[in-house]
Amino acid sequence: MSYVTKMVCSRCGKVYDPKEGHVMCDKKDLGRLDVFYDYEKIKEKLTKESLSKRPHDTWRWKELMPVDEKFAVKLGEGGTPLIKATRLAEAYGLKELYIKDETRNPTGSFKDRSMSVSVAKAVELGVKVDTTASSGNAAAALAAYSAKAGIKTVAFVLSTASVSKVAQLKLYGASVIKVRGIEKGEDPTVKMMLAAVEEMGWYPSPSFGPFNPYQVEGPKGISFEVAEQFEWKPYDWMLVPTGSSCLLAGIWKGVRDLKEIGFVNYYPRLVPVQPEGNSPLVRAIKNNIPFEKIEAEKHPHTIASGLSDPYPWDGDASLEGVKKTRGTGETANDEEIAQAVKDLAKYEGIFAEPSGAAALGALRKLIDNKVIDRSDRVVVLVTGSGFKDLAFAQSLYKEPPEIDADINQLKKALKEEGVPF
Ligand SMILES: Cc1ncc(COP(=O)(O)O)c(C=O)c1O
Ligand SMILES: [Zn+2]
Repeated sequence: MSYVTKMVCSRCGKVYDPKEGHVMCDKKDLGRLDVFYDYEKIKEKLTKESLSKRPHDTWRWKELMPVDEKFAVKLGEGGTPLIKATRLAEAYGLKELYIKDETRNPTGSFKDRSMSVSVAKAVELGVKVDTTASSGNAAAALAAYSAKAGIKTVAFVLSTASVSKVAQLKLYGASVIKVRGIEKGEDPTVKMMLAAVEEMGWYPSPSFGPFNPYQVEGPKGISFEVAEQFEWKPYDWMLVPTGSSCLLAGIWKGVRDLKEIGFVNYYPRLVPVQPEGNSPLVRAIKNNIPFEKIEAEKHPHTIASGLSDPYPWDGDASLEGVKKTRGTGETANDEEIAQAVKDLAKYEGIFAEPSGAAALGALRKLIDNKVIDRSDRVVVLVTGSGFKDLAFAQSLYKEPPEIDADINQLKKALKEEGVPF
């Protein structure tokens, strides 16, 4: 059972019947086929009472998902903890700081939420081969869910994709094609994925709304879960690491859904955080530039490889979300992102990759600039595991001492490490 009533192209307004299985607007206008639901019917089935008996995963919210649960491919995605970050809050001078820890997802990033839904749709459509364009995390997630569903994945990844992400992809059985040329300001993986969809007829499943509207619905679970974890009481801010801004678009849709079904009556203020070296969406927010006028970043450069999409494909929905929730946008430079990786590990025991930690990288600035008040209740999304980029983690520390099993050598090493004894 699906409660989807229609799908409407965000660019040209063309209405699609959800039963027909369209994933892109046939006018090829880069519109996203926004999914509409029958909220009145959903309200009859989805109540806080009915919810309390369900498992904590994507399908806990099945009435608000665009595919029937009977097609679901499940690896235990979602249901991630909302961690009260008391030591980090103290270090940053905040009263209440929470980390939504998405590193816990099955393949190590929030993209499992997106791909769990997209692959469910692929199963419904009887897809044999799916394809994606990705910096690595979305592809790894797609490959894992496709492996479980018995679907072949062909993944176009950036030539800069980390060893860990490529290793995951290969072991999940995907064919991986590395594509050069991101520094030229047009994502070459997207170009190749679209060419392959056109030529080979494969199912497109990148985490960009205009090429697959189903996966946008997966990350809504983050909004649902945080609201429930706060027992439906309001929180002030949600900071979101942002590249293509599909994640932000999903989160915005989620907070809207919750209001539509009457579970909450507030919006948290949404804040996309982009790396300083690739921030077209944040520039648009700060300079009041409409979506149609956003230009792709000409030479993206950042240590946060997952946030290196030069163009915010879902910028229309995410700009609306920022505006309607009275949010804002902020950047974090490479040092601030690296510091965020260290702080998450050091204060809270959370191991994140740079893209996953980037939202925290902008928090100090937002506090110092008095955008966020020290008494506000703040949620920072941490979206990707540190195991995704061990080479980066390794660049942050000096090699540990190596000794023979000898107490005197130990004492010498401890002195050098500054450990009291
Ligand atoms: C770990 C991580 N966080 C955040 C993002 C940003 O998501 P989006 O491109 O939807 O803005 C990505 C995208 O690849 C990612 O890999
Ligand atoms: Zn269209």
